[in-house]
Amino acid sequence: MELQGKRIIVTGSARGMGAATVRAYVAAGANVIGMDVSDEAGAAVSAEAQANGPGKAGYLHVDVADKASVEAAFAQAVEQLGGLDTLAHPAAIQRSSDAGNVGVDDWDLMFAVNVRGTMLTNQAAYPYIKAASGGSIINFGSISGQRPEPGAAAYSASKGAVHSWTRTAAGTWGADNIRVNAILPAMATPMYLEAMERASDEERTASYWMNHQSIAMGEKYGDPDKDLGPVMVFLASDASHFITGQMIPVDGGQTSVR
Ligand SMILES: NC(=O)c1ccc[n+]([C@@H]2O[C@H](COP(=O)([O-])OP(=O)(O)OC[C@H]3O[C@@H](n4cnc5c(N)ncnc54)[C@H](O)[C@@H]3O)[C@@H](O)[C@H]2O)c1
Repeated sequence: MELQGKRIIVTGSARGMGAATVRAYVAAGANVIGMDVSDEAGAAVSAEAQANGPGKAGYLHVDVADKASVEAAFAQAVEQLGGLDTLAHPAAIQRSSDAGNVGVDDWDLMFAVNVRGTMLTNQAAYPYIKAASGGSIINFGSISGQRPEPGAAAYSASKGAVHSWTRTAAGTWGADNIRVNAILPAMATPMYLEAMERASDEERTASYWMNHQSIAMGEKYGDPDKDLGPVMVFLASDASHFITGQMIPVDGGQTSVR
């Protein structure tokens, strides 16, 4: 029960790593509000987590790219939780695009959700976490933001921006005892499985050499509940109170061995 009494918002909570994070936090005793655009699935994830306890979980709609939506959802969540100690922010989208012909629409969509969404959610959380005398913000970057990504030009640029924002927010809000880090994951989630489904045979072979072969621990993407959940608990807990501004790969070695 490392998170007993902690009040936490988790974005992107309807599936993938957001859903696994809600489950991990509730299992660790926290009081959680999950948020997503996908309301039916989001509500079901929170209801199931709460049924398993011992913590609590509610659900609210949010579009992280929309300032009014973020501000309203965060205000309502904080009222329900009685304050805020941690924001976990996995919500994001991925579309494939080549550097030579990535379109303005795709570029703007990815930057609206992934980059503006990170700024808006972090900014909305800031005064509440400050009022709680400090806490933790956990963003989601990517190895794509660290290296050339031929099949995902706009996504890669958006994740690079998330890394820069995370360092800047950490440098700015450290004085308020707020730590800001980013997870760089490699997890078998719907986002990953959908990207694999969209890929041609040739792209899948390229992905093996680029993404899987370098995962030292078995050449396989991780399981979000087993491999990511405990790390999310650690970063929300007081045990991580002196870690900030870090890009933290949780990827079986994918980043370190390349
Ligand atoms: N899966 C991987 O291996 C991998 C690798 C590198 C980085 N990431 C990053 O990890 C994070 C989690 O990824 P995932 O694989 O769990 O993704 P996912 O697609 O399985 O889940 C993302 C969730 O975000 C929600 N979402 C999308 N747009 C939203 C919006 N505008 N407002 C609110 N919610 C919205 C979706 O509805 C979905 O429930 C993302 O930031 C992703 O970019 C994932």
